[in-house]
Amino acid sequence: MTPEGETARLLLRPLALADAAQFQQLFPRWEVVRYLLDIVPWPYPADGALRFIRDAALPAVARGDAWHWTLRLKNQPEQIIGHLDLRRGREDNRGFWIGLPWQNRGLMSEACLWSNDFWFDELGFKTMRVSKAAANAASRRISEKLGMRLVCTIEKNYVSGRLPTEIWEITADEWRSWKAAHL
Ligand SMILES: CC(C)(COP(=O)(O)OP(=O)(O)OC[C@H]1O[C@@H](n2cnc3c(N)ncnc32)[C@H](O)[C@@H]1OP(=O)(O)O)[C@@H](O)C(=O)NCCC(=O)NCCS
Repeated sequence: MTPEGETARLLLRPLALADAAQFQQLFPRWEVVRYLLDIVPWPYPADGALRFIRDAALPAVARGDAWHWTLRLKNQPEQIIGHLDLRRGREDNRGFWIGLPWQNRGLMSEACLWSNDFWFDELGFKTMRVSKAAANAASRRISEKLGMRLVCTIEKNYVSGRLPTEIWEITADEWRSWKAAHL
């Protein structure tokens, strides 16, 4: 069960099949996909968003293995601006992207503050781990800014090729301490 979420500027709505058309309009941009894992097909097919939502995301949600949201601005709730998901597993518990017109406004950091609370307080996980291409400066900055620790560097295959990859981690206790110090 994926609940709705709300931050100062954003609504997080559970991903639905009806979101496929807007998802398809925003997502297939090189700047959005280049540092995503090479499970993302590229060039992106015309039904890529529909297949992702119908065949991967919603079944994972139904199994209780993942939680997926579209991001929307509160003052324009009909427009999808990005996507965030949380997943069970040891190494890659969160994924996100935001459409080019809305990048670098602090919006994904804001969404992650909410989703970290959901992960630790509602779902009750003890640790969150995320992985990202070391070259992905914006994503890296979000981990750094929100109190995560760099655990190790490995390599993974991305849409743009095989790249050094950082694993970042934060525990529930560290998250609560970070919030007490920063919010
Ligand atoms: C990663 C992504 C979701 C960030 O979303 P966003 O809403 O732009 O992020 P925010 O504005 O909350 O924070 C980005 C931070 O990175 C910084 N940043 C952005 N580009 C940067 C760059 N080239 N070098 C250094 N820092 C950079 C910003 O200044 C900001 O930090 P600050 O708040 O300290 O100023 C967005 O860039 C994106 O969709 N990228 C493509 C998809 C992707 O790579 N997803 C992540 C896969 S791990």
